Amino acid sequence: MERKIWTEVDDYIEACLLPADHGLDGALARNRAKGLPAIDVSPTQGKFLNLLVRIGGARNILEIGTLGGYSTIWLARAVPDGGKVVTLECEARHAEVARANLEDAGLSHLVEIRLGPALDSLAALAAEDAGPFDFIFIDADKPNNPHYLSWAMKLSHPGTVIVCDNVVREGAVLDRDGDANVKGVRATLAFIGEERRLDGTAIQTVGAKGHDGFAIAVVR
Ligand code: SAH
Ligand code: DHB
Ligand code: MG
Repeated sequence: MERKIWTEVDDYIEACLLPADHGLDGALARNRAKGLPAIDVSPTQGKFLNLLVRIGGARNILEIGTLGGYSTIWLARAVPDGGKVVTLECEARHAEVARANLEDAGLSHLVEIRLGPALDSLAALAAEDAGPFDFIFIDADKPNNPHYLSWAMKLSHPGTVIVCDNVVREGAVLDRDGDANVKGVRATLAFIGEERRLDGTAIQTVGAKGHDGFAIAVVR
């Protein structure tokens, strides 16, 4: 019941605030047609990420976990001229769909998709001195989140904003004996709490994707 009204409210917010958009709507349609899991951020969440980037004036963005590039499009739409998005994905099939979606959205020139395990790509980015990034969105395999946060610290500067998706998981975050994903998100919150260079919080969300949440932190 709650879930139904949450989805209806998301639909209403979308109808009021998020006009039809060829690039975004087309990406979701292609993702489903190609059989990608329906775990993209929701439209209202995508817009929220887009606004965070713009509010903070971020230019160089790093995303960990591309899927079909739906969140990537929202992020790339937010960067000013001269900005860029680097997005990391280990599934060739997902990256291929993302490439097509970004092309259709007219954003290919702004986005670099790096194929391979994100931990390898992060090490390569650090070795290449590709950072620092102004905004980092972590949305891949949750058990690796503490490692992703460690890399994010290395690839950041004071003021960098770090956002982690899926930190509530229908409340499963409370379960200290939870599965590997739950352990990963509990470690995410612990990391943010214990790392003195980070100042953050987590916000619960309800909507089309159920009861979940974002962790948000800024590098001091
Ligand atoms: N950010 C996307 C959703 C990402 S879903 C959106 O909102 O539109 C998570 C993605 O992370 C999947 O495509 C999955 O293949 C990828 N992934 C999982 N483990 C990974 C790893 N170790 N390295 C890189 N990508 C990984
Ligand atoms: C899952 C992963 C996500 O990143 C998400 O936003 C929702 C669900 C999952 O793996 O089930
Ligand atoms: Mg997610």
